Amino acid sequence: MKNIVILISGGGSNMEAIVKTAESERWAARLDARVAAVISNKVDAGGLAIARAHSISTAVVPHKDFAGREEFDAALAREVDAHTPALVVLAGFMRILTPWFVTRYAGRLINIHPSLLPAFPGLNTHRRAIEAGCRVAGVTVHEVTTELDHGPILAQAAVPVLPDDTPDDLAARVLAQEHRVYPRAISEWLQRIETN
Ligand code: GRF
Repeated sequence: MKNIVILISGGGSNMEAIVKTAESERWAARLDARVAAVISNKVDAGGLAIARAHSISTAVVPHKDFAGREEFDAALAREVDAHTPALVVLAGFMRILTPWFVTRYAGRLINIHPSLLPAFPGLNTHRRAIEAGCRVAGVTVHEVTTELDHGPILAQAAVPVLPDDTPDDLAARVLAQEHRVYPRAISEWLQRIETN
Protein backbone atom coordinates (compact mmCIF):
# COMPACT_ATOMS: atom_id res chain seq x y z
CA MET A 1 0.00 0.00 0.00
CA LYS A 2 1.38 3.43 -0.98
CA ASN A 3 0.79 5.89 1.83
CA ILE A 4 -0.01 9.53 1.11
CA VAL A 5 0.58 12.03 3.90
CA ILE A 6 -1.11 15.42 3.51
CA LEU A 7 0.16 18.53 5.32
CA ILE A 8 -2.29 21.35 6.00
CA SER A 9 -2.42 24.62 7.93
CA GLY A 10 -6.06 25.66 7.62
CA GLY A 11 -9.44 24.67 6.24
CA GLY A 12 -8.04 21.82 4.20
CA SER A 13 -10.43 22.10 1.26
CA ASN A 14 -7.78 20.67 -1.07
CA MET A 15 -7.11 17.83 1.38
CA GLU A 16 -10.84 17.14 1.51
CA ALA A 17 -11.07 17.04 -2.29
CA ILE A 18 -8.17 14.56 -2.40
CA VAL A 19 -9.68 12.37 0.34
CA LYS A 20 -13.10 12.33 -1.33
CA THR A 21 -11.56 11.49 -4.70
CA ALA A 22 -9.49 8.67 -3.16
CA GLU A 23 -12.76 7.26 -1.80
CA SER A 24 -14.92 7.79 -4.91
CA GLU A 25 -12.22 6.54 -7.33
CA ARG A 26 -11.33 3.64 -5.02
CA TRP A 27 -7.56 4.40 -4.96
CA ALA A 28 -6.92 1.65 -2.39
CA ALA A 29 -8.23 -1.03 -4.75
CA ARG A 30 -7.19 0.55 -8.04
CA LEU A 31 -3.88 2.24 -7.17
CA ASP A 32 -2.90 0.43 -3.98
CA ALA A 33 -2.75 3.86 -2.37
CA ARG A 34 -4.47 5.63 0.51
CA VAL A 35 -4.37 8.87 2.46
CA ALA A 36 -2.65 7.54 5.58
CA ALA A 37 -2.47 10.75 7.62
CA VAL A 38 -3.23 14.44 7.71
CA ILE A 39 -0.74 16.51 9.70
CA SER A 40 -0.98 20.19 10.54
CA ASN A 41 1.28 22.82 12.07
CA LYS A 42 -1.83 24.49 13.53
CA VAL A 43 -3.83 22.87 16.34
CA ASP A 44 -6.93 24.78 15.20
CA ALA A 45 -6.74 23.79 11.51
CA GLY A 46 -10.30 23.11 10.40
CA GLY A 47 -9.11 20.36 8.09
CA LEU A 48 -8.20 18.12 11.04
CA ALA A 49 -11.88 17.53 11.88
CA ILE A 50 -12.59 16.77 8.22
CA ALA A 51 -9.80 14.18 8.15
CA ARG A 52 -11.05 12.58 11.37
CA ALA A 53 -14.58 12.42 9.90
CA HIS A 54 -13.05 10.31 7.12
CA SER A 55 -11.32 8.06 9.70
CA ILE A 56 -7.90 9.36 8.70
CA SER A 57 -5.13 9.56 11.30
CA THR A 58 -4.29 13.15 12.25
CA ALA A 59 -1.44 14.81 14.10
CA VAL A 60 -0.40 18.32 15.01
CA VAL A 61 3.18 19.58 15.14
CA PRO A 62 2.81 23.17 16.38
CA HIS A 63 5.60 25.20 14.80
CA LYS A 64 5.41 27.62 17.76
CA ASP A 65 6.72 24.83 20.05
CA PHE A 66 10.10 24.80 18.33
CA ALA A 67 13.11 27.11 18.56
CA GLY A 68 13.60 27.32 14.81
CA ARG A 69 12.76 25.94 11.36
CA GLU A 70 15.27 23.11 11.60
CA GLU A 71 13.85 21.81 14.86
CA PHE A 72 10.28 22.08 13.58
CA ASP A 73 11.09 20.33 10.30
CA ALA A 74 12.86 17.50 12.15
CA ALA A 75 9.80 16.97 14.38
CA LEU A 76 7.49 17.18 11.37
CA ALA A 77 9.59 14.61 9.48
CA ARG A 78 9.41 12.20 12.44
CA GLU A 79 5.60 12.46 12.34
CA VAL A 80 5.51 12.10 8.53
CA ASP A 81 7.93 9.16 8.51
CA ALA A 82 5.74 7.26 10.99
CA HIS A 83 3.50 6.64 7.96
CA THR A 84 6.30 5.60 5.55
CA PRO A 85 4.97 7.97 2.85
CA ALA A 86 5.23 7.24 -0.86
CA LEU A 87 4.03 10.80 -1.39
CA VAL A 88 3.91 13.92 0.81
CA VAL A 89 1.26 16.42 -0.31
CA LEU A 90 1.34 20.08 0.78
CA ALA A 91 -2.24 21.35 0.67
CA GLY A 92 -2.66 24.83 2.03
CA PHE A 93 0.45 24.24 4.13
CA MET A 94 1.67 27.72 4.97
CA ARG A 95 5.21 27.00 6.22
CA ILE A 96 8.37 27.44 4.18
CA LEU A 97 10.23 24.15 4.55
CA THR A 98 13.99 23.92 5.04
CA PRO A 99 16.26 22.51 2.32
CA TRP A 100 16.87 19.56 4.67
CA PHE A 101 13.15 18.64 4.67
CA VAL A 102 12.72 19.22 0.91
CA THR A 103 15.79 17.09 0.16
CA ARG A 104 14.59 14.32 2.49
CA TYR A 105 11.41 13.93 0.41
CA ALA A 106 12.86 14.89 -2.98
CA GLY A 107 10.85 13.42 -5.83
CA ARG A 108 7.86 12.61 -3.60
CA LEU A 109 6.94 16.09 -2.24
CA ILE A 110 4.35 18.15 -4.14
CA ASN A 111 2.48 21.42 -3.62
CA ILE A 112 -0.39 23.39 -5.03
CA HIS A 113 0.11 27.09 -5.74
CA PRO A 114 -2.71 29.48 -6.68
CA SER A 115 -1.13 30.97 -9.82
CA LEU A 116 0.10 29.87 -13.24
CA LEU A 117 3.77 29.44 -12.26
CA PRO A 118 6.31 30.75 -12.99
CA ALA A 119 4.05 33.81 -12.79
CA PHE A 120 3.37 35.12 -9.28
CA PRO A 121 5.34 32.89 -6.91
CA GLY A 122 4.82 33.81 -3.26
CA LEU A 123 1.77 35.28 -1.59
CA ASN A 124 -1.25 37.41 -2.59
CA THR A 125 -1.27 35.90 -6.07
CA HIS A 126 -4.86 36.87 -6.93
CA ARG A 127 -4.45 40.55 -6.02
CA ARG A 128 -1.18 40.68 -7.97
CA ALA A 129 -2.72 39.07 -11.06
CA ILE A 130 -5.60 41.57 -11.02
CA GLU A 131 -3.25 44.52 -10.47
CA ALA A 132 -1.07 43.31 -13.36
CA GLY A 133 -4.13 43.33 -15.64
CA CYS A 134 -3.96 39.58 -16.32
CA ARG A 135 -6.82 38.15 -18.40
CA VAL A 136 -6.18 34.63 -17.16
CA ALA A 137 -5.04 33.25 -13.82
CA GLY A 138 -5.02 29.76 -12.42
CA VAL A 139 -3.38 27.04 -10.36
CA THR A 140 -0.21 24.98 -10.55
CA VAL A 141 0.61 21.60 -9.02
CA HIS A 142 4.38 21.23 -8.84
CA GLU A 143 7.18 19.20 -7.26
CA VAL A 144 8.71 21.02 -4.31
CA THR A 145 12.37 21.96 -4.63
CA THR A 146 14.58 24.13 -2.48
CA GLU A 147 13.61 27.14 -4.64
CA LEU A 148 10.18 28.31 -3.41
CA ASP A 149 7.31 27.78 -5.89
CA HIS A 150 9.69 26.82 -8.73
CA GLY A 151 9.74 23.01 -8.98
CA PRO A 152 8.83 20.90 -12.04
CA ILE A 153 5.21 21.49 -13.02
CA LEU A 154 2.88 18.47 -12.83
CA ALA A 155 -0.45 20.11 -13.75
CA GLN A 156 -2.06 23.47 -14.34
CA ALA A 157 -5.54 24.90 -14.93
CA ALA A 158 -6.43 28.39 -16.11
CA VAL A 159 -9.44 30.52 -15.26
CA PRO A 160 -10.57 33.88 -16.69
CA VAL A 161 -9.98 37.09 -14.76
CA LEU A 162 -13.19 39.11 -15.12
CA PRO A 163 -13.22 42.93 -15.31
CA ASP A 164 -14.82 43.50 -11.91
CA ASP A 165 -13.10 40.62 -10.08
CA THR A 166 -11.98 41.21 -6.53
CA PRO A 167 -9.14 39.04 -5.22
CA ASP A 168 -11.75 36.99 -3.35
CA ASP A 169 -13.79 36.44 -6.53
CA LEU A 170 -10.70 35.21 -8.35
CA ALA A 171 -9.58 33.09 -5.37
CA ALA A 172 -12.92 31.29 -5.33
CA ARG A 173 -12.77 30.61 -9.09
CA VAL A 174 -9.20 29.29 -8.78
CA LEU A 175 -9.98 27.20 -5.68
CA ALA A 176 -12.72 25.36 -7.57
CA GLN A 177 -10.09 24.37 -10.15
CA GLU A 178 -7.64 23.38 -7.41
CA HIS A 179 -10.13 20.84 -6.12
CA ARG A 180 -10.37 19.35 -9.61
CA VAL A 181 -6.70 19.48 -10.60
CA TYR A 182 -4.93 18.31 -7.40
CA PRO A 183 -6.67 14.93 -7.00
CA ARG A 184 -6.16 14.17 -10.69
CA ALA A 185 -2.47 15.15 -10.56
CA ILE A 186 -1.95 12.87 -7.54
CA SER A 187 -3.78 9.97 -9.20
CA GLU A 188 -1.59 10.37 -12.30
CA TRP A 189 1.54 10.57 -10.10
CA LEU A 190 0.57 7.34 -8.33
CA GLN A 191 -0.06 5.58 -11.64
CA ARG A 192 3.33 6.70 -12.94
CA ILE A 193 5.24 5.26 -9.98
CA GLU A 194 3.19 2.08 -10.27
CA THR A 195 4.28 1.56 -13.88
CA ASN A 196 7.93 2.60 -13.37
C1 GRF B 1 -5.47 27.54 -1.51
O1 GRF B 1 -5.66 28.74 -2.23
C2 GRF B 1 -4.20 26.88 -2.01
O2 GRF B 1 -3.90 27.25 -3.34
C3 GRF B 1 -3.16 27.41 -1.10
O3 GRF B 1 -3.81 27.46 0.17
C4 GRF B 1 -5.18 27.86 -0.04
C5 GRF B 1 -6.08 27.18 0.96
O4 GRF B 1 -6.07 25.80 0.70
N1 GRF B 1 -1.99 26.57 -1.10
P1 GRF B 1 -7.00 24.77 1.55
O5 GRF B 1 -8.44 25.23 1.43
O6 GRF B 1 -6.53 24.83 3.00
O7 GRF B 1 -6.75 23.45 0.89
